[in-house]
Amino acid sequence: MKIAVFVSGNGSNLQALIEASGRGELGDGAVISMVVCDKPGAFALERAGKAGIRTFVAEPAGEETREEYDRKILAVLREEKIGLVVLAGFMRILSEGFVKEYGGRMINIHPSLLPAFRGTGGIKEAFDYGVKVTGVTVHFVENELDAGPVIMQEPVRVEETDTMESLEEKIHRQEHRMYPEAVRLFVEGRIRLEGRKVEIIK
Ligand code: GRF
Repeated sequence: MKIAVFVSGNGSNLQALIEASGRGELGDGAVISMVVCDKPGAFALERAGKAGIRTFVAEPAGEETREEYDRKILAVLREEKIGLVVLAGFMRILSEGFVKEYGGRMINIHPSLLPAFRGTGGIKEAFDYGVKVTGVTVHFVENELDAGPVIMQEPVRVEETDTMESLEEKIHRQEHRMYPEAVRLFVEGRIRLEGRKVEIIK
């Protein structure tokens, strides 16, 4: 199965996926075929380049609508016959048309236990709130932001000694364990989606 990973920034989750792929841990036949990025200078692009993965950099043009922008990307995904879209820190909201075409074949990772702390400040908001447990969610992408069916959730404890930085580190470590595993389950056809409920087939 051909996989496209969408990124905007650092790309540490992309790196975890690349390394898992190198160890053969993304499932039989899984290959990261391309990295899609909306930010020309993103460090994630360097990571992709080092791994020899094709990159498609699509910087949004001012006069372009969201639909037009998404259609450009969709055309490339179709041409590459991408079977799974993995959002890994991609900072753009995708249009309804995009979600319709890749519905059930597009996943995202979010650094909190959804539905708590949606949006871009997931780690900081949880830290500032003073929660004792936060975590990581992998979910299918639907039109509403950070609200698709949950595939996997793992808790991360917030200790009294934690700082924002140490919590961030713990969350990222958890993400890097979970995301390759979620991709493997998808590639192996072991994720069954029934309405909002996700069943993982043993
Ligand atoms: C991660 O925390 C992910 O949960 C969120 O964006 C961040 C991306 O980090 N969606 P990186 O670019 O993979 O390092």
